[in-house]
Amino acid sequence: MTEAWGPGGDDGQPRRGATGPVRVRVPAKINLHLGVGPLRPDGYHELNTVYHAISIHDELTARHGDTLTLTMEGEGTGELALDETNLIIRAARALAAHTRVPAHARLHLRKQIPLAGGLAGGSADAAATLLACDTLWGTGLSRDELADIGAGLGSDVPFLVHGGTALGTGHGETVSPVLARPSTWHWVVAVADGGLSTPEVYREIDRLRDAGTAPAALGSADSLLAALRQRDPAVLGAALGNDLQPAAVSLRPALADVLDAGRAAGALAGLVSGSGPTCVFLATDAADARRIAAELATTGVCREARTAHGPVAGARIV
Ligand code: C5P
Repeated sequence: MTEAWGPGGDDGQPRRGATGPVRVRVPAKINLHLGVGPLRPDGYHELNTVYHAISIHDELTARHGDTLTLTMEGEGTGELALDETNLIIRAARALAAHTRVPAHARLHLRKQIPLAGGLAGGSADAAATLLACDTLWGTGLSRDELADIGAGLGSDVPFLVHGGTALGTGHGETVSPVLARPSTWHWVVAVADGGLSTPEVYREIDRLRDAGTAPAALGSADSLLAALRQRDPAVLGAALGNDLQPAAVSLRPALADVLDAGRAAGALAGLVSGSGPTCVFLATDAADARRIAAELATTGVCREARTAHGPVAGARIV
């Protein structure tokens, strides 16, 4: 990437922007613990969650242009709207409004994170856009400032600006990193055919709770955080939990078969990722993950079984 002086700032000083394309890689997330509290008056649920960034990435490239345009290739091409409703366009416009620069860029997305899969692909792309456009336009915001803008776009955006493993509170938008010296964990990611709507899954857990048929809420993430510190996959496996899992399985009963198949293939533990329908399985090491993925792929319970590791960095320029 080459650099040049970009448009002037409020202080009249020129800013340093990029002339060449700016390419940003951004990971998917899973939730090692997803404790869902009551519905708040603003329509969100209070969360106690542990986010974990994994090595399935989207890539967003930003180039200078006379207007704001978006093209894409990969997962979900032809299904994902590329208009003003797209989180990428909304993220570019939000950054432009915040920094008072014209929202001019040619954006291209290479997508590997499944749509509506519970892996925060949309939020990941918004995080990537904030970083890419900030660099292209030379607006020079800090990661914390980008995360603050991202919080208005989606609950998971601030986490995907930062990455790693982090505690999420509020409706998920308030994040603080956990563990100074992380272990690497190995995962098998079972990608489903078709997505699930996040608001519908939240509505379903409210319905199951009102009907008295939901399991007790998980509450705080303390036991998961203690398990992470032990650095033992068997201990971590026993501590994984997701309050949205019964709701996702209620809406998509076939997910019970996916979870059974992963455990039968020898995974230490399995759970629905976020609001689903992607399921993730913890393996003891990379070779074990490859073996479980190969076995899962033969069962036909999912569209695809990929391996991944975590934690990985959040949105970053490559
Ligand atoms: O923040 P995000 O756009 O990802 O949220 C999508 C929807 O998921 C929200 O409009 C809300 O219905 C639901 N949600 C929720 N509680 C949260 C996060 C999301 O009810 N903490």
